[in-house]
Amino acid sequence: MRVNVGILYSRIRRDEKLLLNELRDRDHEITKVDVRKQRFNIADPPEALVDVDILVDRCLATSRSLYATQFAEAYGIPVVNGAETAEVCANKVKNSLALQKAGVPTPNTDVAFTKDAALESIEAFGYPCVLKPVIGSWGRLMAKIESRSAAEAILEHKETLGHYEHKVFYVQEFVDKPGRDMRVVAVDGEPIAGMVRSSDHWLTNAAKGAETAEAETTDEMRNLVETASDAVGGGLLGIDLMETGVESGEPSDLTVHEVNHTVEFKALNEVTDVDVPARVVDWLEARAGARSETAEVRT
Ligand SMILES: Nc1ncnc2c1ncn2[C@@H]1O[C@H](COP(=O)(O)OP(=O)(O)O)[C@@H](O)[C@H]1O
Ligand SMILES: [Mg+2]
Repeated sequence: MRVNVGILYSRIRRDEKLLLNELRDRDHEITKVDVRKQRFNIADPPEALVDVDILVDRCLATSRSLYATQFAEAYGIPVVNGAETAEVCANKVKNSLALQKAGVPTPNTDVAFTKDAALESIEAFGYPCVLKPVIGSWGRLMAKIESRSAAEAILEHKETLGHYEHKVFYVQEFVDKPGRDMRVVAVDGEPIAGMVRSSDHWLTNAAKGAETAEAETTDEMRNLVETASDAVGGGLLGIDLMETGVESGEPSDLTVHEVNHTVEFKALNEVTDVDVPARVVDWLEARAGARSETAEVRT
């Protein structure tokens, strides 16, 4: 079955190229939609979207992603990931609340709205602890806080110089992970493949230059990935996990620190034998197919 796949983008990165190549190889119709050129009317979809069977949101800017997915849903155009998933994943506070509610182990976190309250959270977690921007990725603007004086300085800087989102202080316990974390890319909770990201730096994002290697997805990981995916509303997701308790010699447990919604998969594709874009397109075909079947039933 041939489908028209819309790709909503502002920049075509390697990840999007991989996806486009796979779609072309399978002879699907592709509608590239540059989000910067669109006007989204509250009643009528932009011309570029009318023939699309399924829209894939690959916007880099979170704000665009959040609004564009809402418009797509309002027009009745199936979009991955959905607006609700984007909403939860784009925001670390919502992400943590969703994981906690679903019973997924996740690092303990406080949110405070003033410098003084945030300092109390930091002192309660002890040093080191972590301060993260509520919205952000690629390890940007993350702070590992090692002392009270550093805490005071960072909080003052954020309060004075930060834009309003930086006045929501997201404070997290530091997880003494063994120099690596794990990223699993999954579709509706089903892992496609996983990788470990290792670094001497406490930030192990691939975007920060961490070394990547394939990781076997264990049963424990599969369970956590499935529950974490459900907790944020499902979709094509990148689930980030850390091992805890390694330093103390205890058997390590896993904790999920975040779920990402416009997930990059080029690094994963390089380290695994699994054809990641092919698996993503399999899933897109199934989603689009399920839709045309319901459309047929309705007509
Ligand atoms: N609580 C924590 N303790 C120790 N390391 C952490 C903690 N939270 C995040 N990290 C490290 O920082 C990286 C980035 O954190 P993450 O919450 O995933 O933010 P981003 O959205 O920027 O990727 C993680 O991949 C991990 O290596
Ligand atoms: Mg991350």
